[in-house]
Amino acid sequence: MINNFVEYRGLIERKLTEFLAEESYRSKSLNNTFTYSLYNPINYVMSGGGKRIRPILVLLACEAFGGKAQDAINAAIAVEILHNFTLVHDDIMDNASTRRGKETVHQKWDVNSAILVGDELIGLSYRSLILSNTSRIASVVKVFTDGVIEVCEGQAMDKEFETRDEVSIYDYIIMIRKKTAELLKTSAVIGAIIGGSSDEEVKKISVYAENVGLAFQIQDDLLDIIANENEFGKKIGGDIVERKKSYLYTKALELLQGSKKNEFIKCYSSNVTNGENVSKIINVYNELCVIETARNEIKRLTAVANKSLDCIKDNHFRLKLEQFSDMLLNRNY
Ligand code: IPE
Ligand code: IPE
Ligand code: MG
Ligand code: MG
Ligand code: MG
Repeated sequence: MINNFVEYRGLIERKLTEFLAEESYRSKSLNNTFTYSLYNPINYVMSGGGKRIRPILVLLACEAFGGKAQDAINAAIAVEILHNFTLVHDDIMDNASTRRGKETVHQKWDVNSAILVGDELIGLSYRSLILSNTSRIASVVKVFTDGVIEVCEGQAMDKEFETRDEVSIYDYIIMIRKKTAELLKTSAVIGAIIGGSSDEEVKKISVYAENVGLAFQIQDDLLDIIANENEFGKKIGGDIVERKKSYLYTKALELLQGSKKNEFIKCYSSNVTNGENVSKIINVYNELCVIETARNEIKRLTAVANKSLDCIKDNHFRLKLEQFSDMLLNRNY
């Protein structure tokens, strides 16, 4: 995966390093007292080796509509910084101790530091966003802000579902559209706007990114069960322990009936989520073949995404966007 889009990755890492170094420097020189407690965890999380798929999508969408990556690079890192805010706060909400193979921020420091790190990352993301080289900055900031609000609403739904047993696939899709797909859509739309796309083209690229985003979250749910922990960098089975209403859970619920369904709900909502419960749940998933169903749904959504790319006249970039969604489809982490 890391071998794909190497040029974009290089550009993103260089800009992130430069931007964060400037911010640290500013903090040092202005106050004469460097706020280590804030910038140490920020540098820790931002250099922690994420896949950088959102900034890649910003740059790709920009160039696909005739723009230059350089004009969208500030927006690209803004989206990545915002994404890292969502992760730091998500890990507090999900009681997660590991991410990207390392301790989470609230685990390594403490919850208060992690809250503040998240807050600061939102501020930094806007600071970078407004440096974008475009005459359509008001649209860019609007789309970005809409994205922030959608993610928060999606995260609220995700938390509310923890204490609800009955969650339909329909509810689940609304929740993941907000918590995950929206930020991919935001990335593609901002890139497209900076690249000079028409409203019609923005609509098409939105359909692409939204479907890629839905597939991405279903796969994240799947990897929570089937991935290799070292490769995945997060604890396996975390969704079961936290009673998350994942794709697998909602699909299983749809297929189960009567006492089997009641037993499954009881086991999933049990307060003593130990290793035994986790394997019981995974057994049900295997019996119902929901893992296979999830795989098929990810493939279907990726195909829907790729099909919406016919608006992109530039063959090279259409293929690049197909390569992007296929890369996500085949990922193990
Ligand atoms: C994790 O996002 C959160 C989800 C939306 C599933 P990524 O899987 O993109 O996380 P990193 O940035 O690559 O670590
Ligand atoms: C991630 O959902 C959504 C956001 C961070 C906004 P998850 O809670 O499934 O993400 P991971 O699995 O912790 O990365
Ligand atoms: Mg979560
Ligand atoms: Mg989480
Ligand atoms: Mg997850």
